[in-house]
Amino acid sequence: CGIVGYVGAGRAAEIIMAGLKRLEYRGYDSAGVAVVTDRTIASAKKAGKLGNLGQQLAESPLPFDGIGIGHTRWATHGVPNDSNAHPHLSFDGRVAVVHNGIIENFAVLRAELTAAGIALASDTDTEVVAHLLAQQLAGGAGLADAMRTVCNRLDGAFTLVAVERDDPELVVGARRNSPLVVGVGKGENYLASDVAAFIDHTRDAIELGQDQVVEIRADSVTVTGFDGAPAQVHPYHVDWDLSAAQKDGFDWFMRKEIYEQPKAVGDTLLGRYDADGSLTLDELRISKADLRRIDKIIIVACGTASYAGLVAKYAIEHWTRIACEVELAHEFRYRDPIVTSNTLVVCISQSGETADSLMAIRHASEQGAKVLAICNTNGSTIPRESDAVIYTHAGPEIGVASTKGFTTQLVACYLLGLYLAQVRGTLFGDEIGRLMGELEQMPQTLERVLENADPVLKLAADFADAPSVLFLGRHVGYPVALEGALKLKELAYIHAEGFAAGELKHGPIALIQDRLPVFVVVPPQGRDMLHDKVVSNIAEIRARGALTVVLAEDDDTEIESLADVWIRLPKVSTLLQPLVATIPLQLFACELATKKGHDVDQPRNLAKSVTVE
Ligand code: G6P
Repeated sequence: CGIVGYVGAGRAAEIIMAGLKRLEYRGYDSAGVAVVTDRTIASAKKAGKLGNLGQQLAESPLPFDGIGIGHTRWATHGVPNDSNAHPHLSFDGRVAVVHNGIIENFAVLRAELTAAGIALASDTDTEVVAHLLAQQLAGGAGLADAMRTVCNRLDGAFTLVAVERDDPELVVGARRNSPLVVGVGKGENYLASDVAAFIDHTRDAIELGQDQVVEIRADSVTVTGFDGAPAQVHPYHVDWDLSAAQKDGFDWFMRKEIYEQPKAVGDTLLGRYDADGSLTLDELRISKADLRRIDKIIIVACGTASYAGLVAKYAIEHWTRIACEVELAHEFRYRDPIVTSNTLVVCISQSGETADSLMAIRHASEQGAKVLAICNTNGSTIPRESDAVIYTHAGPEIGVASTKGFTTQLVACYLLGLYLAQVRGTLFGDEIGRLMGELEQMPQTLERVLENADPVLKLAADFADAPSVLFLGRHVGYPVALEGALKLKELAYIHAEGFAAGELKHGPIALIQDRLPVFVVVPPQGRDMLHDKVVSNIAEIRARGALTVVLAEDDDTEIESLADVWIRLPKVSTLLQPLVATIPLQLFACELATKKGHDVDQPRNLAKSVTVE
């Protein structure tokens, strides 16, 4: 969910709506706004995308002045209808609250309120907070004290932002396990789930820590712990280019972000490789001695980031000879994994806020492991709670389906693998220099992939009615196949599956039937048997009637007779091939979803950063 709070002389409702627009990628099931003015709380909320609420406000506007809060929702408790939309008001109309997260003990609290004669108007866990705050205010507490008292009673994950009718100059926020940042302006201040909400107004931000309550007034920001003790704060400056948050003539943010990949990859490599041939990862706050001690790496991540992790496993093990496992973050801590002080846990997360990933690194830290984050979002929770971080410099990614986030994660993983190899002396000759040289050429290589995208775009029109599409790959082509299938599911709502090509004959081949579209990622030629094995796999499915779309090097004549469609890839090293092979699959899914008339940037049921477990 996305949250905004505002105090200042501006038009609160308009500022909040503009902020929510920037946060809509965090959830778009319903939205709402509340403003405090003339000692009343005026609110509006509506199911569906923010546009629905915008329309309602155009017909019956909220008062302009005052302070306010807003919310755009990704539903957890309660279906996305009008009454479950936030803000939620207390029984006496004195408090309005918005929430991101899940309050795990809400059933007990709900029962307590019902027993006290309070009728609940929604099915949400959030509403209980509004009533609990109002009870505290009725007992004489101020809003910030009330918030601290109530937070101490809540279990689970939450960002809460509240206003009260009788203090029209104050917005109070609180956070545990969910994100909240302060935007510090001149004579006005903001609270938001991330800086995108207020970047039009200020670039000065303050990170809030775990279990903290913040009070913002027009000229002050006060932060305490849940116990009321003053807290240390960390101000920082946001250096995003504002134009990165505009579509620049593209139909979708996603398409723009696909085309930004050459630059994003270049930016992620910037300053990391010296002319004298050594790699530096300045942000890596783990000593070389500690890096030499590592005997196991576990990569934890979710969704697309986990596929970057699967690619990293092949590269890291090959280059460093350190055993590397990849695990979905939500599975990790529940299986009692073997983690020691010599384990390096690498968490890959574009947003740095994914709750499943955050909980996984907390578990790893508790077990004594060193934690390294690969992240795209400065100041987010996962890098803050990690021992070290490698930032990807993709710039803001707005499209819900990850594109440049993924390719820059791959680059960061390659940098990590090569750096470990350098520190531990596991690569010989000038292998590091050769691979870094190839990576430094990658922006130009990716430009060529984008320039030659026509065949894949044309294909999207042909496949718009396909009920199912399969993706096959081997070695690092396997995670690429998984990512190709995920993109198609996310955007085009087509059944799609990725398989390891070698596994095909052990079952999935039964799915092959006449004209079933199958994408196959073919490894570069000339590296052991891998290429030839995949070529045989293509022959097997073609013999059974599949329509083969083959991603292979542009001079790979062996596949010519087996490919119904040949997507030509530039020649790169095998381990780096996912960078070039993923882009056509991203474009294919984007184009197909566009042809089907779907909202590519905001696919149904999804959210960009899922801050609940
Ligand atoms: C959500 C998004 C996915 C993303 C995953 C991990 O489920 O919809 O696109 O891959 O979270 O996100 P992260 O920000 O941790 O990389």
